[in-house]
Amino acid sequence: MDYFDYQSGQLYCEQVPLTEIASSLGTPTYVYSSATFLHHYQQLAKAFAPLDPLICYSVKANSNIHILNLLDRAGAGFDIVSGGELARVIRAGGDPAKVVFAGVGKTDQEISQALQAGICFFALESAPEAQNISRLAVAAGKKANAILRVNPDVDPKTHRYITTGKKLTKFGVNLEEVTAFFEKYSDLPGLNLVGLHMHLGSQITAIDPFVEALTKMLDLVDTLRARGHKIEWLDLGGGFGADYQTDTVPLAPAYADAIVDMLRDKDLCIAIEPGKFISANAGLLLTRVVYVKESGPKRFVIVDAAMNDLIRPSLYDAFHFIWPVQPAQGFVPPARTAEPAIDGLLKVDVVGGICEPTDFFAKDRLLPPVQRGDLLAIFTAGAYCATMASQYNSRPRAPEVLVDGAEHKTIRRRETYDDLTALE
Ligand code: LLP
Repeated sequence: MDYFDYQSGQLYCEQVPLTEIASSLGTPTYVYSSATFLHHYQQLAKAFAPLDPLICYSVKANSNIHILNLLDRAGAGFDIVSGGELARVIRAGGDPAKVVFAGVGKTDQEISQALQAGICFFALESAPEAQNISRLAVAAGKKANAILRVNPDVDPKTHRYITTGKKLTKFGVNLEEVTAFFEKYSDLPGLNLVGLHMHLGSQITAIDPFVEALTKMLDLVDTLRARGHKIEWLDLGGGFGADYQTDTVPLAPAYADAIVDMLRDKDLCIAIEPGKFISANAGLLLTRVVYVKESGPKRFVIVDAAMNDLIRPSLYDAFHFIWPVQPAQGFVPPARTAEPAIDGLLKVDVVGGICEPTDFFAKDRLLPPVQRGDLLAIFTAGAYCATMASQYNSRPRAPEVLVDGAEHKTIRRRETYDDLTALE
């Protein structure tokens, strides 16, 4: 569900025609819908309400401070993985007391910064990190709240590059080593070890992996409590899937129903860390066709955005729905389906202009005929697109626009050639 739709033959974001944004700001441009961010946040908040969870929006998905501010005002906390993300949360007006800090490589500087800010807790990923955080906390005259990230060895059945809760990945501590970890490190002088964390991966479109992992985590909670350890928090991580194609993922209540029942009456404070679920469908990338090139049997639609703006197809073989902003008269783009059954569509590759064969947005995709100058929308670009953007090929990064009803504002300007060389 999102607030991008066709009205009188052209694509709108809420009440703003995308042609208006393209004319005033040029392309490529990321366009975000406030109502969609809030709708997805509220869907999760409502579904998980019986657990009264701390919902920590995962900053890495879309870290623009205006988006963080929007979600902060809706009541969100934040899941961070770097000092830079913490700085963004604070600049956005977010409450550090609702921040959880994960990541296998937290540096001394980042740990001290988080101690100073007074975050809710660190998610520990290893014994050396536990010792280091304790040492730095003691030096700062503080005690750091921490939970232990457990690797539950569950296959989340998603792309292998976004699988994190399987053995042999770099994340967390193996299930069978957790009890020994608590025995050894729960009394470190600078640590207050108060719970467990898991994060299985991203774009998880089945409920079973959550249930399987949670079953293992709850056994662990019982074991640890029986041994006298204080387990107050259980952080379930993120990974709830976003609907890149229509009806391919469970809705919030489906995830929550299974999870809520397992956690009722467990006397645990619950945290969740959704990123994509909230932000992916809240954005699209607006781009213009530069050329249409026919080459033997192939037809390439070459656009002014490229893999530096949206790397997900190149990196994860990700599917992003693409349609013209102003389709030819009479053509109404169907729901987000990979193989629409409509006459008159042509099979094309939609590609960028970067000098790499991996620079593509779609291969053998059915699109209505498009020509030089046409605007295209690459959907589901609100998560892991702007945050993963680069200046590769010395392409200035694209601006970000936030729409709210009939209003829109630029929340990050387009980079200039001066920006490209400013630090050199
Ligand atoms: N919590 C932790 C500890 C994480 O590492 C992540 C994502 C999340 C929460 C949020 O996951 P989400 O709900 O957004 O799936 N660049 C990839 C996704 C990488 C996710 C990394 N960790 C992509 O574009 O698919």
